[in-house]
Amino acid sequence: MAKPYAEVIGDPISHSKSPKIHGFWLNALGIEAEYRATHVTPDALPAYFAERKHDPDWRGCNITVPHKIAALDHVEDREDVRTAIGATNTAFRDADGALVGTNTDAAGFAAPLKPYDLAGKPVTVIGAGGAARAVLYALAEIGVGPVTLFNRNVEKGASLLSSFGLEGQALPIGEAVPPGFLVVNATSLGMTGQPPLDLDLSELPPEAVVYDIVYAPLETGLLAAARARGLATIDGLEMLIGQAAVAFERFFGAAPPRERDAALRKILLG
Ligand code: ATR
Repeated sequence: MAKPYAEVIGDPISHSKSPKIHGFWLNALGIEAEYRATHVTPDALPAYFAERKHDPDWRGCNITVPHKIAALDHVEDREDVRTAIGATNTAFRDADGALVGTNTDAAGFAAPLKPYDLAGKPVTVIGAGGAARAVLYALAEIGVGPVTLFNRNVEKGASLLSSFGLEGQALPIGEAVPPGFLVVNATSLGMTGQPPLDLDLSELPPEAVVYDIVYAPLETGLLAAARARGLATIDGLEMLIGQAAVAFERFFGAAPPRERDAALRKILLG
């Protein structure tokens, strides 16, 4: 039998950091398996899943742009991620052999927030797209207090808040961030090649945490502004590695060696 393998699928796919992350963990744990990047166009998505379903060596895949919604039609949605988050980023073979879709972005986002007690605390989120849905899902699970949601399209922001049963208000980007304990950028603003995200953080208390899901550059303008104010920060590699960790365990049945994150981060930035 050939080697077991998992992969990341998308269109385009060459930029993906997933092969480096999963490859690092497979190597560190001495697991005889491969993790690769596979270019799959939207037209080829149904055939991709139909074929992989019958491949005994295939352990699953991570799913990236533009397939995160369309892939839901080809997997069993046992965790009801279609209703909960609206997208899947991981498919894996369940114990009974079924091809199951899940979403590890929410758990990956929430993992670095574990040391903080955010239940009932006011927070601010920027964005109302696919990434923001995973973030809001995780924040609703944590049971945060009122959410101020900044989005260019304010109506979209308001409807997202109510769909997650979150109290709070939607505002246009540009108003000062209200006092709160967490600020999350869940847009691509601040990413290399995108417009910057300029936020007034002056009303935040000293114990506030600022979290940016953008990882290129690693220190975004938002994180630099937070550090200049002496606030704690969480960068985008935390969520990237966190969502991969949950997927890795589904694929290969072993917990990744997170004590080696510092070495992994060096590789990802190199
Ligand atoms: P993703 O799946 O990465 O979240 P998306 O679903 O396209 O991508 O969502 C992109 C998010 O970034 C949205 O919140 C979008 O704002 P709108 O809902 O108003 O479109 C936001 N965004 C993208 N480009 C932006 C820009 N130039 N200015 C302000 N907001 C922007």
